Amino acid sequence: MTSTAAKQNPESWSTLFAAHLEAVKKRSAVALSATGYDALLVHAGTPPLLFQDDHHLPFKVQAPFKVWTPLTDAPDSFVYFVPGRKPLLLLHAPVDYWHKSPELPRTYWSDAFDIVSCPDRAAARGALPKDMARTAFIGEPFGELVSWGVGSINPEHLMAQLDYSRAAKTPYEVAALLEANVLGARGHAAAEKAFRAGGSEFDIGLAFMAACGLRERELPYNPIIALNEGGAVLHYQVQMREKPARFHSLLIDAGAEFAGYASDITRTHSFDNAEFAALIKRFDELQLKLCAQVRVGADWRDIHQSSYRAISEFLREADVISASADEAVDTALTSVFYPHGIGHLLGLQVHDVGGRQRDPAGGEIERPYNHPFLRLTRKLEDGCVVTVEPGFYFIDQLLAEARAKPIGQKINWARVEQLKPFGGIRIEDNVVARVGTHENLTRMAFSS
Ligand code: GLY
Ligand code: MN
Ligand code: MN
Repeated sequence: MTSTAAKQNPESWSTLFAAHLEAVKKRSAVALSATGYDALLVHAGTPPLLFQDDHHLPFKVQAPFKVWTPLTDAPDSFVYFVPGRKPLLLLHAPVDYWHKSPELPRTYWSDAFDIVSCPDRAAARGALPKDMARTAFIGEPFGELVSWGVGSINPEHLMAQLDYSRAAKTPYEVAALLEANVLGARGHAAAEKAFRAGGSEFDIGLAFMAACGLRERELPYNPIIALNEGGAVLHYQVQMREKPARFHSLLIDAGAEFAGYASDITRTHSFDNAEFAALIKRFDELQLKLCAQVRVGADWRDIHQSSYRAISEFLREADVISASADEAVDTALTSVFYPHGIGHLLGLQVHDVGGRQRDPAGGEIERPYNHPFLRLTRKLEDGCVVTVEPGFYFIDQLLAEARAKPIGQKINWARVEQLKPFGGIRIEDNVVARVGTHENLTRMAFSS
């Protein structure tokens, strides 16, 4: 936990965490009993070694572990849970003079666990019961796990129950997601400043991280920092050191992490072009209308279809297409410019689990025809946190394909050429579903 919020108000964080842990214990107990296990052993994960090297890849803790504890930097630790008992945290603390060993945590969440320091895996095994035949292990299996005698590794039905339950966030999780948005909004403000000062993509990335107070490996995903045409590459991974000859636009999709929870925020800026700035403003209004559709009971597929229609109208108004909005929807012309889903579940993972699951037992809810990239098809429950991220882009590959088809005749190619140097526009907020309403964590963070 890096933010000052937890330091400023440790009592409220410990109260929130205690209620969160009770909820996690309760749903885990229900899932264990429904699937015939007595105990859960969850691994934090371990970073792989590079080939022929003694360096590890950066450690990323596994989400099923961090739902129990915000311990994001203690690889090879375990949580062991038996319903009705205090959970046990086996903290991996190697006796090793090359590295700094983790210290026993003394913070807002640590009293909720019995904590045992383990120098190695053998010590962790020794701290667990001899008979683990009715224990379910969750995590990436490691070599000696076969000799531990666990009943099952990542059993499908248990995982389905636990994954499904992660969609609706506890008040602690929503508070952590708001903090992640506060950090992310700080990063975005600094990034915009670096852009206006004529920084390269690399400079803008450094400004983002410095303002968040996070190292690159502490970010929830690789930031997408795209100047000009780069904005048309959906997951643009380059950070150019060179500055472009001319600055047109910045599309930045970058989030921060707090207590293991991610923000996922996109903003688009015009450098000095008033017409592109007006398009961004109009797109921002469209995005806010979509955010307003987030509420308990909403079917995410309907919100996606609504975004598809709204972007179709936008493209017509912006004179990018000559087809009516109805025709653009019917012929999937809009997909040339908007080839992704309106958003996804957000939480411990940027693309959080269980988005297309039919119910706690498993199964799948179909995506709508013609929308193969939608990551969420469920109805929203109270506390579900989603991203709302409409976008449109001038993507060479999709434009070339469209030019060869009848729909190509409905594209205003001169307008496309005029707008191509700007790459595209995406605006992305993190939104909580509530009964009859929503909370926009990102807008709250930007105005705090
Ligand atoms: N940052 C990845 C996404 O928006 O889904
Ligand atoms: Mn994003
Ligand atoms: Mn996203």
